[in-house]
Amino acid sequence: MRFVLTLCLALTAIFSGAVQADVAAGQSAYASRGCIGCHGAGGVSAATTYPSLKGRDADFIRKNLTDYRSGARKNAVMNAMAAGLSDTDIRNLADYIDSLK
Ligand code: HEC
Repeated sequence: MRFVLTLCLALTAIFSGAVQADVAAGQSAYASRGCIGCHGAGGVSAATTYPSLKGRDADFIRKNLTDYRSGARKNAVMNAMAAGLSDTDIRNLADYIDSLK
């Protein structure tokens, strides 16, 4: 019983750590990959040409970035931006943007 409890606590610590790491990694990718230049700090865009991302949930971001990457959703700028993203990048970016709500 004690072992099970310890295991549960350890897993909780690992999983909550992983979630935080994804958001932090997503935040740094958002800056380093230039998303911030068009979509704005904190996902609030200053120009109407670029949609704000704040308020979007992780599933929306994940689906649209995957679609831009595969070409299922077409936009020259975003197809180029998404081309270099790995699945992990997309997941981290989605978690970061979701956290801005
Ligand atoms: C050079 C400007 C520019 C950069 C840099 C850029 N985007 Fe975009 N993004 C756009 C434009 C323009 C659109 C709208 C495209 C369309 O109509 O499909 C868009 C759309 C999106 C959408 C869909 C939003 C919606 O409401 O449908 C997501 C998600 C997104 N961008 C994420 C990102 C991420 C993540 C990055 C960084 C890897 C990034 N963008 C970098 C210009 C940019």
